[in-house]
Amino acid sequence: MNADALRRTDPEMTALLAEERKRQADTLALIPSENYASRAVEEATGCCLANKYSEGYPGRRYYQGQAVIDKCETLGIQRAKALFAADHANLQPYSGSVGVLATYFAAGCRPGDTIMGLSLAHGGHLSHGHSVNITGRIFNSVQYGVARETERLDYDEIEKLALECKPKVLMAGGSAYPRVFDFPRFRAIADKVGAIFIVDISHIAGLVVGGSHPSPVPHADIVVTTTHKTLRGPRGALIVCKDAFAKAVDRAVFPLLQGGPHQHTQAAIAVALKEAASPKFKEYAHQIVKNAQAMARVLADDGMRIVSGGTDNHLLLVDLQKKNINGKDAAVLLESVGLVCNANMIPYDPGTAAKPSGIRLGTPAITTRGMKEPDCERVGHLIARAINQRDHPAALAAIHEEVRELCRKFPIPEVMV
Ligand SMILES: Cc1ncc(COP(=O)(O)O)c(C=O)c1O
Repeated sequence: MNADALRRTDPEMTALLAEERKRQADTLALIPSENYASRAVEEATGCCLANKYSEGYPGRRYYQGQAVIDKCETLGIQRAKALFAADHANLQPYSGSVGVLATYFAAGCRPGDTIMGLSLAHGGHLSHGHSVNITGRIFNSVQYGVARETERLDYDEIEKLALECKPKVLMAGGSAYPRVFDFPRFRAIADKVGAIFIVDISHIAGLVVGGSHPSPVPHADIVVTTTHKTLRGPRGALIVCKDAFAKAVDRAVFPLLQGGPHQHTQAAIAVALKEAASPKFKEYAHQIVKNAQAMARVLADDGMRIVSGGTDNHLLLVDLQKKNINGKDAAVLLESVGLVCNANMIPYDPGTAAKPSGIRLGTPAITTRGMKEPDCERVGHLIARAINQRDHPAALAAIHEEVRELCRKFPIPEVMV
């Protein structure tokens, strides 16, 4: 990466990138799927490997000139296998969505087969069978949810549904579920109905490798994850699986769904995996959870309802109904004081996707900035004050100044290990 070359070639884009770098520095990212990758990861993402076509896999390519590429991809694969304690790894998926799609095909699904996943409205993901996603269009998608009372997964209900619909794939994982997934229980259900068990740990991968969420790898047939959320790598994805699914996973990624792999991204993933294997990353993962719990306590004390009563991981869903503001208006308000989060549906939401009742908050990024529990409590107080004093411009200006002060106190680090 040569910043000087970019400046000379394209001052306009250089200025925009500087503007975005400043925006990230001057605001706090509270979106649980976002993080700040290290400069090492950024440098690898912008490297010369992007110039190379390398369809295929190490030692089996369709183009010449792969001597170094093969070594790079193999290094990443070895690091992924070691970090996740997995038989096989594939780092080629361009993103989480295509990676998840590949897993269904790797499991042997054909159009019309039944897949079962957590509904988006209850914390799942579009790619787990939502009707607007390709997975809901080509497969017969059966969706499970959380219990109304507890707002947690009800494993007896999931088992009942699985016995009725006999899915080819049982999918676990989500994007807005604040509790621990019971992977052994999912495995038992999958075994009972003869389903392939897939887990999407896109959100919690960093917690899994850092030891603050149980690993699905011993239980699942296939595990897929994005690499840019708690794992703190570049935008991308990887799949790990048992040996029995290795060939099917590789074929599903290429040639079924993708063409030439993004080798620069794979190099950056390899760098992120090295960082994630460090003892410091374990501390980071545990701190993420402690920080989310600290923030949840403050918001609950202020009278907001935390979905499921709290959090076991990096995110919390906040029901704003008692505050008489919808999630979208709250997210816009919070951005105006430098706190960037997203509006989110809560389970059994009386609102709509455009105006849901909640916001989703996460601590991966602010923990990367070095924040600990007292700092996250302070962020919680700032959120509460902004919502409570939303009609008082002077109060909002004061809150914004406090956010700026926190941003200066906790700059985005460049080196993570
Ligand atoms: C659980 C889960 N799976 C898959 C994805 C899709 O990842 P991507 O945005 O890289 O396609 C996401 C992204 O939000 C996610 O949260």
